[in-house]
Amino acid sequence: MERLQKVIAESGIASRRKAEQLIIAGKVKVNGTTVTELGIKVSNKDRIEVNNKPIGKEQKEYYILNKPRGVVTTTKDEHHRKTVVDLIPTKARIYPVGRLDYDTTGVLLLTNDGEFANILMHPNDKVEKVYMAKLNGIIKGEQINKLKEGVELDGQIVKASRVKLKKVNEKTNTCMVQITIHEGKNHQVKKMFESVGFLVDKLKREKVAFFDLKDLQSGEFRQLTPKEVAKVYALEQKTSK
Ligand code: URA
Repeated sequence: MERLQKVIAESGIASRRKAEQLIIAGKVKVNGTTVTELGIKVSNKDRIEVNNKPIGKEQKEYYILNKPRGVVTTTKDEHHRKTVVDLIPTKARIYPVGRLDYDTTGVLLLTNDGEFANILMHPNDKVEKVYMAKLNGIIKGEQINKLKEGVELDGQIVKASRVKLKKVNEKTNTCMVQITIHEGKNHQVKKMFESVGFLVDKLKREKVAFFDLKDLQSGEFRQLTPKEVAKVYALEQKTSK
């Protein structure tokens, strides 16, 4: 059972606030009877009409985007900057699953399916996030170990499950490090490297769970296949046991 205004909003015809106004204005019927009271609960067996037209459920949509830099990970930006949602031409009210910084690139999933988003956002052993970071120095074994043992961020210990030094450039005094984490705290990777003395010059997310950037150039996106969506739902079953 869900609140009537939420169900109307999820059908895509109005925001939740607008849905409330429609109810108060007597424009909404449930099983043929006008309802003007806010907060009543309905199930998917109830027939809901707005302005005498039945509402439908918004189709679920799922995308993977190779996020370019210079785009905000939100649905609307108060400074009118381009958002990740602007890159995908759809009428569905999709939103990003988690967050990448303005200057971070790589794998970003978007959907209008809250359950799907929750599975991927909830810290979970099965949902790895793999990043490639360019550091302003050359990391040592001891600092790598520290990241794997755990560092404190905002009063919590976070660990990298893998850290691999991929490339060293002595001339520019930089290196490329691949780091795998399971949570998605704000600026987590940058803060983790900062805690061992490095700034991240460039950051790219290469993977989220089994999703990678195969065949997607910067700014390109594709819809997920039904098989991929089912595979995400299967991740939840494994972890809830
Ligand atoms: N960690 C960061 O610091 N930034 C991102 O965009 C993602 C993870």
